[in-house]
Amino acid sequence: MYQKLMTCVSSVREKTDFKPEIGLILGSGLGDYADGIQTEAVVEYSEIEGFPISTVKGHKGRFVFGYVEHVPVVIMQGRVHYYEGYAMSDVVLPTRLMGVLGAKKIILTNAAGGVNETYSSGDFMMITDHITTAVPSPLIGPNLDELGERFPDMSEVYSKRLQEVIRKSAKKCGIVLKEGVYVQFTGPNYETPAEIRMCRAWGGDAVGMSTACEAMAARHMGLEVCGISCITNLAAGMSQKQLNHKEVQETADRVSEEFKKLVTEMIINM
Ligand code: HPA
Repeated sequence: MYQKLMTCVSSVREKTDFKPEIGLILGSGLGDYADGIQTEAVVEYSEIEGFPISTVKGHKGRFVFGYVEHVPVVIMQGRVHYYEGYAMSDVVLPTRLMGVLGAKKIILTNAAGGVNETYSSGDFMMITDHITTAVPSPLIGPNLDELGERFPDMSEVYSKRLQEVIRKSAKKCGIVLKEGVYVQFTGPNYETPAEIRMCRAWGGDAVGMSTACEAMAARHMGLEVCGISCITNLAAGMSQKQLNHKEVQETADRVSEEFKKLVTEMIINM
C-alpha cells in the first residue's frame, strides 16, 4: 500500500509541484466549490496510476490545486466510497495522498441524513466526533509505519482548535451551526428506521456513507482534521418521505452558496 501511495505521489508530481497546506474533500452536491478558486493545476484521478475512480453521479473525479485567498489548497472534487466496491485502504488513499503532498490540515465535507430530532434539512453540522462501528477500519492490514503508528489514538479526531475556528467562521458568516456526532454506514442503501433509532441510542446526530474513515486515516498520519456535514434530509423513518439521492443533491444545491462562504472563511482562519 505504501508503494502504491508513492506511485500515486510520483504521478501527481509529474504534473505539478504545488505544495498544499490544506486538503479539502467535497461531498455530494458541494463539488462546485473548486470551480471558484484560483486554480494552479488540475489532476484527473484517471491520470494517477493505480488511483481509485469515483463512480457516483454528481461527483467529478479530480484534484484541483490552487489558492483560496493566499492559502494553498488541494481540493478533491469527488471522493471514493466504500460502497463502490473499493477496499477501505483504497477509499482513504486520496486522503493519504493529500497528506504526503504536503497538506497539514484537512477539511472533510459531506451530505448527511439528520438523526438528531432538532435538525432540519439544509442545516450545517460541525462534526465533533464519529462512530465507525458499522464499517471496517481503514487502518486494518499491515501498518504503514512511514505514516503513523499501529495503534493510533482517536480521542480527538476532530481538532478542538479547528472546531473553534469553525464556530467563529460560522458566526462571521451569519450561519447557524449545529454540532454533533457523525455515524458512518457502508451504504449504498439508505438506513432503515430501526438503524436510525440505533444511531440515536448510540449518540449519533447525523448519518452518512463517508468521511469518518478518511478522518481516521488523516489522524493516523498526524493531520489536523475537521469536518462539516450538510444535513440534506431527515434520516429514515423521521418523516413521511422516502429517501432519494435527488433530494440530497437538491438540498446541497440550495445551501451551496452558504457552504462556500463558510468553507472560505474557515480556510482563511485555519
Ligand atoms: N443516510 C446516509 N447517507 C446520506 C443520507 C442519509 O440519510 N443523506 C445523505 N447522505
